[in-house]
Order: sequence, then structure tokens, then C-alpha cells
Amino acid sequence: MMLKNCIAISDFSREDMESLFSKALEFEKSTENHSKLRGKIMGVLFYEPSTRTRLSFESAMKRLGGSVLGFADAGVSSVKKGESIADTVRTLESYVDIIVIRHPLEGAAKVSAEHVDIPVINAGDGGHEHPTQTLLDLYTIMKNKNKVDGLEIALCGDLKYGRTVHSLVSALNNYNVKLKFISPEELKFPNKLKPRIKNDYEEHSNIEKALDSDVLYMTRIQKERFADPTEYERVKDSTVLTYDLAKRTNAMIMHPLPRVDEVQYEVDSLSNAVYFEQAKNGVYTRMALIDTLIGE
Ligand code: NCD
Repeated sequence: MMLKNCIAISDFSREDMESLFSKALEFEKSTENHSKLRGKIMGVLFYEPSTRTRLSFESAMKRLGGSVLGFADAGVSSVKKGESIADTVRTLESYVDIIVIRHPLEGAAKVSAEHVDIPVINAGDGGHEHPTQTLLDLYTIMKNKNKVDGLEIALCGDLKYGRTVHSLVSALNNYNVKLKFISPEELKFPNKLKPRIKNDYEEHSNIEKALDSDVLYMTRIQKERFADPTEYERVKDSTVLTYDLAKRTNAMIMHPLPRVDEVQYEVDSLSNAVYFEQAKNGVYTRMALIDTLIGE
């Protein structure tokens, strides 16, 4: 795989993703005693909140024998003094071997990659893309369904601002699936991104339309991306997976997490609710990605 950075999911072919998943499966069998990346350092620059993405990247790097430095709050860095992303990453380049960046601005990872020679991984750029989430999402689907082709996949919630959905839809262009978009009118999958979709899709507003799917991918309404807070209040409870609804579906229930109110806690007890397993898969897929970028 000739991959230098991981900026958009379209950087990966189907073969690239699948060879990464084979490697992730190997790491899943044994996450311990890897020393391949001893002496290598990962820089994590998180300008937006994160739990799973940052910590699973750190865990992945440490499990590969490497170490990590960086910040989880840009407020304690020189960003606070007005430093640009370009200057920050150019400086970091002499301290680390690979950079993982999350930023509220679309294109931040791409700009970073243009200013350094070391690999850059996009850990989320605004409402745009979140390619490594897609890698773990697809890995989770593959592992549970043994395939992706032929599945009916419902994407539910905030399809306008949800970057995980944007990347997942692009990745699914490498497969033959049927998509169902379920969202309130205000949070529909953006028209400007629709030309990208190669699979058949339907759009609905009622979550009941998702119940006969093979995969039900729930998402949080992205409160922080709303210009008008009253608009958020109006739509925040529009697509909720209640326990009663969840009991009526055999679909594999996924969620990138964090969850707010869109999946009732009782749903966690159902055997088809896989979101915590999904979060765990973030470690193996990120180990595979880091190893591909700097371990080979
Ligand atoms: C997602 C994100 O940051 O886009 N979280 C994650 O990385 N697992 C989803 C979200 O914040 O809703």
C-alpha cells in the first residue's frame, strides 16, 4: 500500500482497506509485546474534544512500542497566542514521526500535510471527514456480517454535520450496498455531497423505515456545529432509537459514540448493539494504520 497520509477516506482503495483489516485482525489476536515502533513518537494535536479517537490512537501507538506527546486542549498550547496550524505542525515535525490532528475547520489535516514531510492522519476536520472512524466502522461490519456487499445500511441522525457519515458513505462506494438516510428535513445528507454517492439510496424522516436494514448506524446531533441554538433544540430529539424500537429490529446497531439521547441506554443489553465493540476495534484498526504509515 503506497499511503503517505490519511486525510480523506477516498485515499484508500478497497484493496488498501482490506489489507489494513487483515493486519488489524492480526493485532486483535495479540495487542501485546509489539516493539516495532520502539523509538518512534506520535504527536497528537486535538483542537476539539475527543475521548475514543485520541485515546485509542495513543493506546495503539503505545501497544506498538512507540510513545506519544501532544495536547488534548489547544487552549494550553501556543494556539492560544494565535499560532497558525502550519507553524504548529512545522515545529512538531522535528519532535515526532507522525502527526494525528483533529480540528474544527474543514481541510485542517490537508493543510497540515502540505506543510510537513512526515505522515499526517486526519482525526476529524469539522463536519467534513473522519476517515479512521470509517476504517473501524467497516472493520466492525466485516467482522460481524462477514461481508459488506449486498447489505442494506441505514444511516440515522445528523447526516448534515456528521463527518463519520460523510466518510462512511464515500468508503461504501467501494462496495455494492443499499443506503437509507434517515434524518429530519433540516439535517439531511448534504446535496453538495450527493454526487459522490455511487450506491442506490432512499431518504426518510421516520426511524421506523430503518428497522428492516442489516445495519443501523445511529449518530449524535452535532450540537457544536449549529449556528442557531434554537434550531438544535428543535431537532435534537427527532431520531431516537428507543428500546421498544430496537427490540423490533435484527439490524446490527452501530454508533461512533459519544451518545447523548439518540440511543436509549436499555438498548445496550441487546445482542445486536455493537457500539462498544466498535469503539474497541478503533485500537486494532489504528494500530494497523500507524504500522502501515511508519512501521513498514
Ligand atoms: C465522532 C466524531 O468526533 O465525529 N466521534 C468519534 O470520533 N467517535 C462522532 C461524534 O462526535 O458525534
